[in-house]
Amino acid sequence: MSKIHLMWPELDKEMIDAAIQAWQNEKMVMGESVLKFEEEFAKYIGVKHAISTSSGTMALFLALMGSKLSKNSNILTTPFTFIATSNAIIHAGMNPVFADINLNNYLLDPKKSEDYLKENNTEGMMPVHLYGHPIDMDKFMELKEKYNLVLVEDCAQAHGAEWKGKKVGSIGDFGAFSFYSAKNMTVGGDGGMVTTNDDEAAEKIRSLRDCGRKDKYTHIYVGYTARLNTANAAIGRVQLKRLDAWNERRREIANMYRNLLADVEEIALPPEDTHGKSVYHLFVIRTKKGERDKLKQYLNENNIEIGIHYPLSNNMQPVYQELFGFKGGEFPNSEEAAKNVLSIPMHPGLKNDEVKYVAEKIREYYSR
Ligand SMILES: Cc1ncc(COP(=O)(O)O)c(C=O)c1O
Repeated sequence: MSKIHLMWPELDKEMIDAAIQAWQNEKMVMGESVLKFEEEFAKYIGVKHAISTSSGTMALFLALMGSKLSKNSNILTTPFTFIATSNAIIHAGMNPVFADINLNNYLLDPKKSEDYLKENNTEGMMPVHLYGHPIDMDKFMELKEKYNLVLVEDCAQAHGAEWKGKKVGSIGDFGAFSFYSAKNMTVGGDGGMVTTNDDEAAEKIRSLRDCGRKDKYTHIYVGYTARLNTANAAIGRVQLKRLDAWNERRREIANMYRNLLADVEEIALPPEDTHGKSVYHLFVIRTKKGERDKLKQYLNENNIEIGIHYPLSNNMQPVYQELFGFKGGEFPNSEEAAKNVLSIPMHPGLKNDEVKYVAEKIREYYSR
């Protein structure tokens, strides 16, 4: 079996042609394709506004900057996510504060969030739809109302995921998406998108990402150069057309893994959908203590690429230990997940035979 990749971005001829057309016929920056991509993305998510940005981190950051939150606001988020989630809060001059995850689904725990909110002044929340699994938005919307919070959904890993029929990114005050090359859809490089129904915030974010412009030489904010390039938007438009079919294939692969691994007692499989629809950005299993790295090595030796998302929860990252004085032990579920999770190959281009081979090698490891 030739190498089985963990993830693999799709880039077909239609996408490459669209980028070339955009370079040849449009402004390289803020061309027609950018506006069309934003319109189409807003329609897809089911919101009034989608504002493209240069990355997912910038999308999170600009959502906070466009909101009514002021500097030094406390924003509750999860320590078990890519560090960009909480970095965006710091860049916005605000303070990330954390509650632990639920070990069954690796997502910010609503009960632990409420325990924190009861005791501490908090102005905003940034839950993450990690691995493509929609978080329980009923519970987080309840917390938003009860504690009067701005809610930014980190949808970087969840393009097209749904909670009770609604797309993530359309439920809270803001959604923020990443189009980094490994995501469920990409723009052929870095990119991001903010989604919102808030007209005033949308206008501010549009200006902020474009040097704080009102028009070409009038600036109303200290803005940023955080735009999505036109050729990337042109690729994004074609990717968006393919997204639903790709996500369907991801769900099919997830079901195959579930069936093939159901009786392997030594591992925990990802949570099943209840009221939502996961888009399986990653298929993450959890091993018993001390087994993860051995299983990883075995799969690597058998030509299977493996990922770990993430080997450190953010309270264990050197930069946050220095900044916030974390010592470890603050978020036991996140720390345990970081030690035992393993991402196995998941992308729409995987063949059924490859899925079966991966499952077979996992079974083989445990039956030796
Ligand atoms: C959960 C999460 N949040 C934020 C980001 C940041 O996105 P970007 O890399 O596009 O800045 C990523 C991905 O990289 C992510 O996975």
